[in-house]
Amino acid sequence: MPLSSSSTSSTKSLRRAASELERSDSITSQRFLGRRQSLIEDARKEREAAAAAAEAAEASEQIVFEEDNGKALLNLFFTLRSSKTPALSRTLKVFETFEAKIQHLETRPCRKLKDSGEGLEYFVRCEVHLSDVSTLISSIKRNAEDVKTTKEVKFHWFPKKIADLDKCHHLVTKFDPDLDQDHPGYTDPAYRQRRKMIGDIAFRYRHGQTIPRVEYTEMEIATWREVYSTLRELYITHACSEYLDALHLLERHCGYGPNNIPQLEDVSCFLKERTGFLLRPVAGLLSARDFLASLAFRVFQCTQYIRHPSSPMHSPEPDCVHELLGHVPMLADRTFAQFSQNLGLASLGASDEDIEKLSSLYWFTVEYGLCKQNGEVRAYGAGLLSSYGELVHSLSDEPETRQFEPEAAAMQPYQDQTYQPVYFISESFADAKEKFRGYVAGIKRPFSVRFDPFTSSVEVLDNPLKIQAGLDGVKDELKMLTDALSVLS
Ligand SMILES: [Fe+2]
Repeated sequence: MPLSSSSTSSTKSLRRAASELERSDSITSQRFLGRRQSLIEDARKEREAAAAAAEAAEASEQIVFEEDNGKALLNLFFTLRSSKTPALSRTLKVFETFEAKIQHLETRPCRKLKDSGEGLEYFVRCEVHLSDVSTLISSIKRNAEDVKTTKEVKFHWFPKKIADLDKCHHLVTKFDPDLDQDHPGYTDPAYRQRRKMIGDIAFRYRHGQTIPRVEYTEMEIATWREVYSTLRELYITHACSEYLDALHLLERHCGYGPNNIPQLEDVSCFLKERTGFLLRPVAGLLSARDFLASLAFRVFQCTQYIRHPSSPMHSPEPDCVHELLGHVPMLADRTFAQFSQNLGLASLGASDEDIEKLSSLYWFTVEYGLCKQNGEVRAYGAGLLSSYGELVHSLSDEPETRQFEPEAAAMQPYQDQTYQPVYFISESFADAKEKFRGYVAGIKRPFSVRFDPFTSSVEVLDNPLKIQAGLDGVKDELKMLTDALSVLS
């Protein structure tokens, strides 16, 4: 799938590692035909733009914990002396006056006044209109002592429930065939019209709907057939076993084969049963932030149009060949699916700098990852598995390979003019998942998040009560599993 980025007003794209390499007669003489759009580059631009915007931000905004739709989320600490009885009612009146919506309230004995026992410390989280923030705090200060806000950290809006993905649709248009002179379809108005028609399905799509089917033309199926037939043989010797196992199932249950382009709705239902992943149609390159956010909900944003017939082995942008052959089979593996979701969860509310690093990690794993298997190295990255030339190159003696380390992959320069000179090899998906967990622990966010599979929502773990509730759920599940084990033993 494509991914573009958007955290602020600017848009950037997360590179879709589309098949950009053309097969020649000899395996050893693959040519790189196109230039690549890098997700990492887009994320970098986004970060730089955000940094410039941040410099211009006013100090008064820095006390806002989170902003969304003109509303500010504030964390306030203050002390009220119990000897001043009206202080509490006056303070509460302030919140009422500004129509502040209190989301959380805690009290504890005032540490400073503990000897006298006459005061309480308050922690209030409330939502208030952005324009009222300064006045509200001034009013609180007139009634309370030691008024403080929490650490002045702001973070980007992110979806909290799966339906919020309807808002994660920031596209990058610079690789659109209507605008990009290097696109093979640029001079073909009929192709552009067709691509637009299929893209409109994504624009109209809302979460929960059935993905409309596309009646692919004979010419489109011929393009699919050429790529499918070329790559299918190579998979046997180059793809990892998880990929091959899933591809067999997709051929059996979802219409995968040289003469049929699978329908997203059928593939989505298949993935739902295997790993809980869903497909969602997208009209083109999506922003890195939006794309990664979708992964947090086990949703893969997936293009539905196909590349131009003049260039069956190359597409400057993601298309259904790249998605269906590159990404989908791996999403049917439970461990890889969890790794993908963890990448998404780590991105929620992350800084632009961290989004850039996560994009790089995505690049060197989900798109261009290699793994060890039975003493051999095999490919699992979608950019490799949808590109004949680079798939061959990646497992040749030419490129440098390194053991996968998230910190290194997050900082590794990528190659967008030719094949990657460096690939990272994971010991296993479980090992990559574990290493990534350690990497995420180093990402600075003022909260953690947890995905609730029952409601398909993300819970922000920003206070002990929520964490305790989560632990209770884990205890229940652990007890159930322990009981199950005892039945067997
Ligand atoms: Fe991709």
